[in-house]
Formats: sequence, structure tokens, C-alpha cells
Amino acid sequence: MLFQRSLNLALSAAAVGVTAQYCDLPASPQWASTPDAPLAQPMHNWTSLKDFTHVPYEGEHLVYGSIVNNGTYGSTNFGLFKNWSDMATASQNGMDNPTVAPTLFYFAPKSIWVLCYQWGPSAFSYRTSNDPTNANGWGAAQPLYTGGAAGAPYGPIDQTVIADDVNMYLFFAGDDGSIYRQSMPIGNFPGSFGNVSQTILTNTTENLFEAVQVYKLKGQTKWLMIVECEGAVGRYFRSFTAANLNGNFTELSGLESAPFAGKTNTKITWSEDISHGDLIRSTNDQTFEVDPCSLQMLFQGRANSTADYNDLPYRPGLITLQNPGPVQYGGGSSSSSSSSSTTLKTVTSTATSTPTTKATSTSHSTSHSSTHSSTHTETHRTWHRPSHTTTTTHTSEAAPTGYGPPHYTW
Ligand SMILES: *[C@@H]1O[C@H](CO)[C@@H](O)[C@H](O)[C@H]1NC(C)=O
Ligand SMILES: *[C@@H]1O[C@H](CO)[C@@H](O)[C@H](O)[C@H]1NC(C)=O
Ligand SMILES: *[C@@H]1O[C@H](CO)[C@@H](O)[C@H](O)[C@H]1NC(C)=O
Ligand SMILES: *[C@@H]1O[C@H](CO)[C@@H](O)[C@H](O)[C@H]1NC(C)=O
Ligand SMILES: *[C@@H]1O[C@H](CO)[C@@H](O)[C@H](O)[C@H]1NC(C)=O
Ligand SMILES: *[C@@H]1O[C@H](CO)[C@@H](O)[C@H](O)[C@H]1NC(C)=O
Ligand SMILES: *[C@@H]1O[C@H](CO)[C@@H](O)[C@H](O)[C@H]1NC(C)=O
Repeated sequence: MLFQRSLNLALSAAAVGVTAQYCDLPASPQWASTPDAPLAQPMHNWTSLKDFTHVPYEGEHLVYGSIVNNGTYGSTNFGLFKNWSDMATASQNGMDNPTVAPTLFYFAPKSIWVLCYQWGPSAFSYRTSNDPTNANGWGAAQPLYTGGAAGAPYGPIDQTVIADDVNMYLFFAGDDGSIYRQSMPIGNFPGSFGNVSQTILTNTTENLFEAVQVYKLKGQTKWLMIVECEGAVGRYFRSFTAANLNGNFTELSGLESAPFAGKTNTKITWSEDISHGDLIRSTNDQTFEVDPCSLQMLFQGRANSTADYNDLPYRPGLITLQNPGPVQYGGGSSSSSSSSSTTLKTVTSTATSTPTTKATSTSHSTSHSSTHSSTHTETHRTWHRPSHTTTTTHTSEAAPTGYGPPHYTW
């Protein structure tokens, strides 16, 4: 069946002299919550699991995320797993050097894995490794971005990066209704984007809040941006598309009542929020490609809670797109099509992967016991992120005066 379909594709592609097969992203996505329950619970007595970044890795899923331990942020990776149903028992490997709100990818031009994050020594920092499965095998922190964000009350937040053939781009949010962008020649990466950025989208704070992610749409010359917003019911994502990464991002889906992904179009019952996460990519590299023909999203959701924002019981969840546009041949389209199909697709829950060479590294254990305790002696700045609701103003708490790894213990 699969072979037959591939053969048909090859024949039709040859017939019209093009190579790409693609699906348009519907302007009104409909998702299923698959399963309609958290994928995993925190280990090590942690309060929550958050801010997921995911790559396909040698046929398995590799996930990093933030953790909160009694109000204080840290980070973890998960042991490799093949099936989402195995995430519940995958190891959770706390990191000695926290990488909060991480972005994980393979930088193919230099054959190196990169993990970008916030609240390190710079506004955004990165570390590199030859073995991304080793949570504690990352190199020293390097500056990724050292500037501010013009209107952001707490500074730059929630970076992502992505490349085209020429440039590497940084996108980030500010909890301030703006999305920011900076770029550098791809040959200069890994490196710092410097201290200047451009505001590329503005709206109210609630309507462009945080957790921005940018992806290449497979088979098209078109990029997708999703941004987490604060709704009346819960957190949800808006979407925008652009014909190039340096271009204008124009709205695709709408606000809370017609979102890219939110309570209203996911049929989710276990969470009011579809919050900070990652679309499941079809490659692990700097192109951040996703395939709208079979789209899934790993996100953070939560049960109702009266806890402070930092202690909300976030857990990983998965949603699967139910109405991808029909398969088309040709690619290269940069129009913002809103076509949708009534055909429901079944999407495999096993990771699709572009295998890369896994370097051997035996000098670090990849798992920590729950009795592991910090032996760090330097002074840590503990920054508890202020809570946000649609009715909270953002003037009551001072922005952090600097950055540093949060103190953590487990
Ligand atoms: C949790 O944090 C609170 C507030 O900082 C502190 O009073 C309490 O001792 C902490 N509990 C544990 C078990 O660390
Ligand atoms: C687990 O965390 C809770 C909340 O911080 C704390 O009260 C409790 O003492 C912790 N338990 C252990 C075994 O550390
Ligand atoms: C993944 O797990 C689900 C639920 O246990 C199961 O139905 C499915 O067959 C599994 N998929 C694979 C590829 O193993
Ligand atoms: C920004 O970076 C430039 C060098 O790229 C430097 O000259 C300038 O002082 C920096 N500005 C700030 C405010 O750090
Ligand atoms: C925010 O975006 C919505 C949806 O595009 C638009 O209707 C509204 O005018 C925008 N508001 C502001 C303040 O830019
Ligand atoms: C992007 O949008 C701005 C404002 O609407 C417009 O001035 C500019 O020409 C647009 N740029 C491109 C490349 O479309
Ligand atoms: C959260 O509380 C609201 C209001 O009581 C309720 O409608 C909703 O079903 C609850 N959500 C969950 C996930 O329990």
C-alpha cells in the first residue's frame, strides 16, 4: 500500500516535472486529543513538566522540557521512547545545568546538536553536544542573544530558531503582545545573534503572549508561526504564515473561538489549556520542517488548579490534526490556502525519523535518581515567573535584573 502510493507519487511527479507532495494547512484545524489524558506524570517529586521540544531521533522520540520543583524551574530530558504510550515510563533525567524552555535541533551544516534556552548567562543561551540523548553531556553555555525586548516586562522569553538555505533566524516573545526576530548568516551559526532585534508582530499582550514556534511546511516554500495566547477559557495558539522567514507573517487561524489549537478545536477534556510545546517535526535539523499531511503537537496541559502560576500542574499531552488539506503535488505554493478536507486521517504514533549518527559518549550517566542533590556552590538567582491571567496587569512585579540558573534540587 505504502509502496504503491510512493510509486504513484513518483510517476505523477515525474510526469509534471516536480518532486514535492504536500498538504495545505487548514485555516480551521480540527484536532483530536490522542490520548485524551496526560502522556506522563512528573517523576522525582517534581511539580510539573513543561515547555516541550521534540525531535525524531533514530526512529524514536527525543523530548526535552522545563520542570518545576516546588516553584523553581529546572529542566529534564526523557529517555528515548518509540510510542507515545511509552512516554509515561520513559526516564526523566534532570539536568545539572538547567536549560529552561529549550529548543532542540541538529545543526546539519556543522554536524552538531544544539540546545537553546532562556534564563542562562545571557537572555538566550545555547549549548552543543554530539549526543543529545545525554541530558548532562552538553557543552558550556554560549550566548545566543544578549539584547532585550523593547516592551517586554520580564525581558525576552521563549526563543526558537530556524534556518533557510542562507540565514539562521531567532524568533522570541516578550509576554508583551510582540514577536521579535533577528537573523545571521547561516555560516556564523552556532553563534550569537547579538543584542538587537526587530518587532515583527504586535497585538494585545493576551493575543500574542509567548511560546512562539516557527516551522517550514513540508513540500512548500512557506513557513508557519504559532504563538501561545491567553484566552478567557485557557491558553491557546494562533497561527501565521509567511512566504519567507524574513517576510511578513500573516494571520491564518483566528483568536480563541477559532484558534490554531485550543480548547474549542481539540475535543480535549483533561485540560483547559493547549500551552507551550512543539509540533512534531518530520526532520530533526535546523529547517524545523513539519508535514501538514500528518500533523501532531506535543503541548503542556493541566487540570484545574488554584496554585500559583509557577506551580500549576502542567503535564505533556498530544493532539493529532484531523482535517489536513488534500494531498497535492507540485509544492512551491506560497498562497495562504484555507482549504480543508473532510477526510479523517489516521496518523501513526511512532516517530518518523531522519537518522543521524549517534556519537558515543560514556562519560555521563543519563539518569539521575530521585535522591540526587545539587552540589553547586555558586550563588543562584531564583526567578519565579509571575502569574498571568487575562485580567492581570503586568506592572506589579519588577523585571528580573539579571539572569542565572534557577536553584534546583531533586
Ligand atoms: C517549597 O517552597 C516553599 C516556598 O518557597 C517553601 O516554604 C517550602 O519549604 C518548600 N518545600 C520543600 C519541600 O522544599
Ligand atoms: C514532595 O514535594 C512536596 C511539595 O513540594 C513536599 O511537601 C514533599 O515533602 C516532597 N516529598 C519528598 C519525598 O521530597
Ligand atoms: C502504540 O501504542 C498504542 C497504545 O498502546 C497502540 O495501540 C499502538 O499499536 C502502538 N503503536 C506502535 C507502532 O507500536
Ligand atoms: C550591542 O552590541 C554591540 C556590538 O555588536 C556593542 O557595540 C554594543 O555596545 C552593544 N550594546 C549593548 C547595549 O550592549
Ligand atoms: C489583534 O488581532 C486581531 C485578529 O487579527 C485583530 O482583529 C485585532 O485588531 C488586533 N488587535 C490589535 C490591538 O492589534
Ligand atoms: C510587510 O507588511 C508591511 C506593512 O503591512 C508592508 O509595508 C511591507 O511592504 C510588507 N512586506 C512584504 C515583503 O510584503
Ligand atoms: C475546570 O473548571 C471549569 C469550571 O468549573 C470546568 O468547566 C472545566 O470542565 C474544568 N476543567 C477540567 C479539565 O477539569
